This record gives sequence, structure tokens and C-alpha cells, in this order.
Amino acid sequence: MTNAYKIAVLPGDAIGPEIMAQAIRVFGILEAKRDVSFELITAPFGAHAYFEEGKAFPDSTKAICDDADAILKGPVGLSHEESKKIPVEEQPERGAILPLRARYNTFANFRPIYLSPEMTHFSPLKQEIIKDGIDILLIRELVGGLYFGKKERGINEEGQRYVHELLEYTEEQIRQVLIVAFEQARQRKKKLHNIHKSNVLMSSVFWNEVLDEVHTEYQDVEVVHLLVDAAATALCLNPGQFDVMVMENMFGDILSDQGGGILGSLGLMPSACIGPEKAYYEPSHGSAPDIAGQNIANPYSMIGSVAMMLEMSFNMKEESAMVWQAMKSVFEAGFSTADLSKSNEDIQLVSTDEFGDKVMAKLEELL
Ligand code: IPM
Ligand code: MN
Repeated sequence: MTNAYKIAVLPGDAIGPEIMAQAIRVFGILEAKRDVSFELITAPFGAHAYFEEGKAFPDSTKAICDDADAILKGPVGLSHEESKKIPVEEQPERGAILPLRARYNTFANFRPIYLSPEMTHFSPLKQEIIKDGIDILLIRELVGGLYFGKKERGINEEGQRYVHELLEYTEEQIRQVLIVAFEQARQRKKKLHNIHKSNVLMSSVFWNEVLDEVHTEYQDVEVVHLLVDAAATALCLNPGQFDVMVMENMFGDILSDQGGGILGSLGLMPSACIGPEKAYYEPSHGSAPDIAGQNIANPYSMIGSVAMMLEMSFNMKEESAMVWQAMKSVFEAGFSTADLSKSNEDIQLVSTDEFGDKVMAKLEELL
């Protein structure tokens, strides 16, 4: 029987539609080569949705996402100046991304920080530090902490303006993401770096307490505790010491961007946001309005997000590995895009579309 999947496609803003156009070609190729079918339903989401429909996450888009087996989301947002035309609560971060995460309770955010040994020239780190490549799975808690805690602004008794922004977690919220992290560590190198700030924050003391409880079920996994500030340094000096890392929402936001930094670009960072019933997949980066419309954005993070969807939502592990392999082979053959690389003797610059053509040709060959 043919496996049939329904996918909500949210191309997003700026470079979003350009890289999405390449990513969704993977589904057509799979349909031709495997006994599977994909129904893609495109819907507005982000700043363009606000300008067209008055809402960054319109009800019609919610209904399409509710009905889909998985969601593929492009980057959203506009330049700082353009964003000012949108009321604060409808700006795509607050009006679309956070509500999407909350709606499907996508508590576990997988952000692979990965460079194959053949791609290490992208990294700003010295070759001697990363000669074997970089292979870290950063798991970020995605629906708790400061992002979703109570917020209040006011004027106190002394007439001073003040703000309260609460870092809130329940034990269950912490436990569920830790279980995901321990499971991943068990399947990989059985080593889990727990990133926290327990020397200052009560929330980290609590997090670590729950971690000790969960650890009793995973005694085959070694836990290494590291303060978040020290982790930032260690990621630069010796990324090879990390395999799986787990941390709360805000720490994960910051350290995962640093992950993009050690790879050489956020354009090399796809991600998966996993909830109890539904998952959505997105590049970890923004919509890069400065390079939109030029056909130079690399589609790796968007195609990589499709690869993660194939593996994690549809259990198509072999096909997922082939998508990765196809992308790597295009880089290894010396091709890149202008956003990632400067042209030199060893690198031939191609457009977004041409990069996509090469990846799809290789994928067809592999499948
Ligand atoms: C990310 C982004 C988002 C976040 C923003 C756009 C809400 O930076 O996915 O890392 O802070 O989580
Ligand atoms: Mn971020």
C-alpha cells in the first residue's frame, strides 16, 4: 500500500520562498522513485501573511497545519525597518513562530551542528581543531522558560518603569525534553552534555535535580555538566568533545546560533521541532532580507529540514541519508553559493536554483 502523507508548506518571507522551492523538489523525486505520495498544501505564514490577511498565523493556515502529518516552515521576518510597519504582537516572531510552537507543543528542538570532514573549509575554526568534521546534536527545550513565562511591564512605587519576565518550567516540561536527549545520547556515543547555570539560577538547580532523576533510567549514558558560559568557550576551542547537548530554551537559542558560527554559516543549520503529536521542520536561521530575490541563498538548511522530516516523521531513514549525501556531494564537487562562499580557484559559485538542480540530480542517481 502506498504511504500517503500530507504536508503543510509555509514558505515564509524574504529568502523563504526561494529556498523552499528547491526543498520541495525532494518530494517529487521520492514519489517517482518510491512507493510513497506527498500532498503539499502551501499556506501563508509570517510577515507576508500579516500584510495579505491581517494575521501572521491566519486561522486558515492553522487549519491546514492541524490537518497535516507534518509541517515544513521557511524562515520568516522582515528587516528591522519593515518590521516596524507591523504591530508588535503580529510581528512574525511573536505572532507566528511562538504560537506555532505552542499550538503543537513542540518541546524538543533538534539542531544538528554538523560539517562533514570534506566541508570543514566552511568553518572559521583552524583545520587542526576540526579536521574530523563537527558532529554535535544540540537539543533545545522549545516551549518553556523565559520565552513563554509571564510578562509584565509597569511603574513601581518610586515611579520607575519596570519589567518582569519569568523563567518558568514544570518538572514534566523538563523531564520530557531530558528523556528525548537521553534517548538520543543512548543511540549515539552515550555521552550527554547538560548545559546550565546552576551557580546562579534556581531554574538550573531544579533542571539538574530532574536530570539526576531521569539519569537513573539511563545509567549507560555518561552525563557531563557544563555551565552555559563555559560551554560557549568550549564550543569554539574544542567542539569535538561534544556529542549530544541539552539545555533550556534561551540557552539553546544562543548556543545554537554559535553552532552556526563554528560551521561558518547559519545557512548550514536545519532543525526539527518535535511535539507529542506533530512536528515541524525549519531552518534555524532568519529570512535574510538583505539577500532576498538575488537567487544566491543556499538551500541546504531548508533541504536538510526535509531530510530531517523524512527520517523523524515518516521513518524514511535511508532516503533521508541520501538527501544528506546528495548535498554533501555537491559541496565536495566544489560548488557553492555566494552567501556561503567567495569565489576562488577551488570553488565554483552557482545560484540557489542551480545548487538545487545539482542536489536533485545526485539524489535521483542515489535513489
Ligand atoms: C530561532 C529564532 C527564534 C527563537 C525567533 C525568531 C523567535 O531565533 O528559532 O532560533 O528565538 O527561537
Ligand atoms: Mn535563534
